[in-house]
Amino acid sequence: MAREFTNVGVVGLGTMGAGIVEVFARNGIDVTAVEVDDAALTRGRGVLEHSTGRAVARGKLSEQDQAALHSRVHFTTDLQDLAPCQLVVEAVPERLDLKKDLFGRVDQVVGADAVLATNTSSLPVTEIAVATSDPKRVVGMHFFNPAPVQQFVEVIRTVVTADDVFEDVKGLAERLGKKPVVVGDKAGFIANALLFGYLNHAVSMYETRYATREDIDAAMKLGCGLPMGPLALMDLIGLDTAYEILDTMYKQGRDRLHAPSPIIKQMVSAGLKGRKSGRGFYTYAEPGSSQVV
Ligand code: 3HC
Repeated sequence: MAREFTNVGVVGLGTMGAGIVEVFARNGIDVTAVEVDDAALTRGRGVLEHSTGRAVARGKLSEQDQAALHSRVHFTTDLQDLAPCQLVVEAVPERLDLKKDLFGRVDQVVGADAVLATNTSSLPVTEIAVATSDPKRVVGMHFFNPAPVQQFVEVIRTVVTADDVFEDVKGLAERLGKKPVVVGDKAGFIANALLFGYLNHAVSMYETRYATREDIDAAMKLGCGLPMGPLALMDLIGLDTAYEILDTMYKQGRDRLHAPSPIIKQMVSAGLKGRKSGRGFYTYAEPGSSQVV
């Protein structure tokens, strides 16, 4: 019988994690939302409140439904609170050591039938799976940013993922109103494998002063009908995340399209991580804001 997933955990409440919490809670699922410390927890809660507050202001969510949504989320810094969860989705920073360590620990906390999913964008799901006592129950569940808006989820199946596990996660993604596709464990899966060469190329055009940031973005937005230009999208994704994804893809495939443009690392080192830090290719009204100043 398919798992119902009425109680799930999300570990890591950054840009993606907080969005994933919202997706679950909006769909009536109880969520245990975990961060490493109180400061990170407060930031994650802030992202959720900002997003649902915006939906209320736009008349897309009633205040009553907003309160119900928030009441479904239990914020904690204690991994042990994940014990009753039937699914745990990990959305911590894109570092293999971090993810492996976390999976090893969560594996000890949850029940034997629970599913463990990573939202990794490019790291090997198989490597993460083998850090647990039961790699059969590990999948990738890759959401897109902003998670509450984008309707696509990649379900990554490793060579050892049990059939019922990825089928149940696929069913869950459908329940969340997303279109799931099942893909193999290859860096970038489908979307990022196609997207990041293009984003990197746009950064390189900017870096070599081939064109201004506004003109590069206008070309793709107004000329090609994309919802946003590549540099604005880099700011949305986060330059630190984008760097990690490019670096992993480059190391795996050695395609020079993915060799990270040097300026990305320089901007990350200088704290210019995009919207989340208030400045990236553009400057924003405040950290987390989408308003360019
Ligand atoms: N959280 C929740 N909802 C959000 C949101 C957020 N961060 N940002 C926008 N929204 C909602 C708005 O509330 C609005 O909802 P409504 O239509 O119900 O009122 C809707 O999205 C449209 O928002 P806006 O009118 O403010 O702005 P736009 O129409 O310009 O849309 C956008 C903003 C959805 C970000 C759109 O520009 C877009 O789709 N851009 C491309 C994003 C993209 O390519 N994402 C994938 C990145 S790659 C990735 O995530 C993979 C990872 O591994 C890196």
